[in-house]
Amino acid sequence: MTRCTSFRGLRACVLAVFVVTLAGPGLADNLRIPAPKLTPDVERRIDALLERMTLADKLGQLSQQWGGETQDMNPDARQRALDDILGIVRAGLCGSFLGAHGAEYTNVLQRVAVEESKHKIPMLLGNDVIHGYRTIFPVPLGEAASWDPDLVQAGAAVAAEEARAAGTHWTFAPMIDVSRDPRWGRIVETAGEDPYLGQVMAVAHVKGFQGGDISAPDRVMACAKHYVAYGGAEGGRDYNTVDISMQTLYEVHLPPFEAAVQAGVGSLMSAFNEINGVPASGNPLTLDKILRNDWKFRGMVVSDWTSVTEMIAHGYVVDPAHAARVAITAGVDMDMCSFSYRDTLAESIKAGLVDEAVIDLATRRVLRMKFALGLFDNPYSDPDREARVTLSAKNRGVARRLAARSMVLLRNEDNTLPISTDVRRIAVVGPLADNARDPLGTWEGRGRAEDTVTALAGLKARAGSDIEITYAKGCETRGGTADGIPAAADLARAADLAIVIVGESEDMTGEGHSRSEIGLPPLQQQLVKAVHATGTPMVVVLMSGRPLTVNWEAENAAALLEAWHAGSECGNALADVLFGDVNPSGKLPVTFPRRVGQIPFHYNHKNTGRPPTEERYTSRYIDLPSSPLFPFGYGLSYTTYAYSDLQVATPRIKADGTLEVSATVRNTGQVAGEEIVQLYIRDLVGSTTRPVRELKGFQRISLAPGEEKKVRFALPADRLAFYNPQMQRVVEPGRFKVWIATSSAEGLEGEFEVVR
Ligand code: NOJ
Repeated sequence: MTRCTSFRGLRACVLAVFVVTLAGPGLADNLRIPAPKLTPDVERRIDALLERMTLADKLGQLSQQWGGETQDMNPDARQRALDDILGIVRAGLCGSFLGAHGAEYTNVLQRVAVEESKHKIPMLLGNDVIHGYRTIFPVPLGEAASWDPDLVQAGAAVAAEEARAAGTHWTFAPMIDVSRDPRWGRIVETAGEDPYLGQVMAVAHVKGFQGGDISAPDRVMACAKHYVAYGGAEGGRDYNTVDISMQTLYEVHLPPFEAAVQAGVGSLMSAFNEINGVPASGNPLTLDKILRNDWKFRGMVVSDWTSVTEMIAHGYVVDPAHAARVAITAGVDMDMCSFSYRDTLAESIKAGLVDEAVIDLATRRVLRMKFALGLFDNPYSDPDREARVTLSAKNRGVARRLAARSMVLLRNEDNTLPISTDVRRIAVVGPLADNARDPLGTWEGRGRAEDTVTALAGLKARAGSDIEITYAKGCETRGGTADGIPAAADLARAADLAIVIVGESEDMTGEGHSRSEIGLPPLQQQLVKAVHATGTPMVVVLMSGRPLTVNWEAENAAALLEAWHAGSECGNALADVLFGDVNPSGKLPVTFPRRVGQIPFHYNHKNTGRPPTEERYTSRYIDLPSSPLFPFGYGLSYTTYAYSDLQVATPRIKADGTLEVSATVRNTGQVAGEEIVQLYIRDLVGSTTRPVRELKGFQRISLAPGEEKKVRFALPADRLAFYNPQMQRVVEPGRFKVWIATSSAEGLEGEFEVVR
């Protein structure tokens, strides 16, 4: 291929392309873990089972339904519900439940499965353990803001330990959709807008949930979801249509899934959305070609909740039988809750519309994971273990560390934070200050409000008797009246410092909770302004599951901290950060727009033919600056860092070479700190246009005051690959920019070239 073009005076001749045969995203080998144990002996045991199973038995294994314990207080009604569920297990009508919790209850189900059902096949029990089981961690967007995969992995391991002890074998996590639209309620479950950070967080979660052996008593099988491109919903409206280019599919949405597969994830969940006209739960391209054929995935795929029969509403199939045929043939092994497999596939096979071999293969995949989980040998959970590990001090410790690491300092005028030793009286104000439920966030697992350390409780505990803490709620999170605002302002007026804790309730985020405006609700804005008007220095703490358009607060608060929905240890972690016991090091995993009108807004956008300037006919809005409120990768510290001496050791590399680049980072402030040093590149000319920046790596470094370190990155050129118009994964020769940076909007800039 030969093509010449120019880029703002830079001339680049693309003389050849290097087609990269390596399918993987190029993650380092140490990010990989062994896939679940699968031995020839297991395959033989599956052969023997399949031999004995009827078609109905197999379809039972491919069906999942709700199997939770009824909360009815009437003992008779409870017993009847349990009898129904046990009847289903005994008859082998269903191979997997979701919603069953607790060692005792799940053991009852398992006993019937392995002692009374025809083939004695254990049940596979799945649950949404998204950011903790009983010990709740920050919501995943917050976890990603830590940029700390080791700690995220440790958090997922805690969740796995608690969940498995309570009879859960399988978590419907990690959610690894990439989202560039903060209106989407489910952005809270993602690692944000960047595919590379998404990969890193995906792998951290898979390693944490699964460990090296999912049969261990403290591990669960992970489920990478929602496969795929669910985060591309038009308008940020949940479940909405996804219509994207193949380049965006391959370069933005698929990479975290590929990384999860490489990391040995045991299962994937097919998404609700369509992709370019074909629903994800019946999509042969994504499920069969990409997942099974290209990536060699050997685990199982479960549909999302009724996503199989929702293909009828999509207008893709005519009825449940058609839906089931399309889904199973495309590669969805297990049907979550639509019952279409169990109810229709036998007929379709009889009519010759589906080959029974397809059912055998799906059943094999499900049984394989049951073997890998060790369920045939050890189907039960130990209630003593459950009591011992649940919400242990060790687990709370991990949650506290991760919550503190997730918090992002967005503004800190005149070193308002950490709280000065001169402060004697603090007014803590706001609807999220003494709130135990909302900090648990959406998908709170089995987390309980009574186990949450609220912000107020955490601050009081840390302040001790030396500092007086007063509290007023001021207003509700949503709705209500302004009646409480004057009293809250009075408290602020009488204090040395006001901490205003505002943001979103948990039900303003999550599934089915997209918002068309993403600012603070009006009364909360009024509260913040009333406190500010008192003249007392004001720290605004945001608790949210998405970026918020907090323009006024970003200009007027003395300090602004994004604390997300931080989980069970919210208050302790917040106190750690506000009092300076932990120096904040979190960085935004997602762009904070100034206004909803800027969305979709992500740092890794294309340049366009008319990049935004102050000029009229450029790609901009006439009523808004082109910059975000806060860029991706941004986050302050109680110290400052100076970046210097960028060195590109390899200014010319070949497509199989490695880029080596370094810079010196110095702690120029008064306290020790940890900085996330980020590596970005830009491919200046491509056969498909490239983003203005792409994150390619990051490192966490700790620096004492005055200390400096040389930070080196080695980036295999394979990681520069992208998809050309023929959808080949290529590294093209030409010039690149490279930055070592504290955020996506800054950095030391250098150049290198990929040569033939
Ligand atoms: C629907 C959600 O989309 C999915 O994330 C979840 O795992 C299932 N429901 C099961 O609760």
